Amino acid sequence: MTDDVLIERPQDYPGVQLIRFNRPAKKNAITRAMYAKMANALTVAGTDNAVRVTAFLGTEGCFSAGNDMADFMAFAMGGTMGQEVLDFLRALAGAAKPVVSGVDGLAIGIGATIHLHCDLTIASARSVFKTPFVDLALVPEAASSLIVPRIAGHQRAFALLAAGEPFTAEEAQEAGLIWKITGADAIEGEVLALAANLARKPPEALRIARQLIRGDRSDVLARIDEEARHFSAQLKSAEARAAFEAFMRR
Ligand code: COA
Repeated sequence: MTDDVLIERPQDYPGVQLIRFNRPAKKNAITRAMYAKMANALTVAGTDNAVRVTAFLGTEGCFSAGNDMADFMAFAMGGTMGQEVLDFLRALAGAAKPVVSGVDGLAIGIGATIHLHCDLTIASARSVFKTPFVDLALVPEAASSLIVPRIAGHQRAFALLAAGEPFTAEEAQEAGLIWKITGADAIEGEVLALAANLARKPPEALRIARQLIRGDRSDVLARIDEEARHFSAQLKSAEARAAFEAFMRR
């Protein structure tokens, strides 16, 4: 199993499962093995009473640069769109227990859209959220095409998801994409304390409250699949291959 993402249960934060990206040399780009490990961790969390909250963290200055470009290239060259990413997205979108996240620095592609499925996200002021899907000849994923217009309105959704405009932490907060901003040094402690605080709450009341707030998720799950069909087709396109080759050649 890969160590590029670590699954931990920090002793000082009972009830918390931590999913930590651990591939800083590649800006925490996410490979198929990493998706598989995260999907499994989320599934285990659903049935393990010892886990009450899952927290996502990256490394200093980088949450994640999104899907691994070499994997994109492999799909473009004739491989199939990995099932692992869909398993992960479905597990995340369908998670029965709270999920929180902390961002310091880069949050690109799925490194940005993960937070749409989190209940609380704290980011450092230097964080940047960017989804250059269309620039890579791809389309929005993780049901972002449904969720972002709902919470931020059409124009900000278009700016982020279609125009590929970067959002600062402040812009992301104004758009309702994240909860709050804190200092880079404080992120880890604040996110873990927040998760532990949630883990101490009466679990059934928290579960019901969360379900009421989030509402029915069937449209979100259906949109993940609909986007994935377009995404897979675009991955095979000549325009996408050219974009991946340009990245590899840099
Ligand atoms: N997939 C695979 N490798 C990636 C990656 C990705 N998504 N993002 C960064 N890396 C790798 C780089 O290839 C480089 O590897 P190398 O040192 O072996 O050459 C290393 O991480 C450092 O990245 P680098 O580009 O040198 O750092 P930077 O600070 O100049 O730029 C980014 C960082 C994230 C802005 C830039 O790497 C980038 O644009 N990455 C692609 C992001 C992306 O489009 N993701 C997909 C979204 S759908």
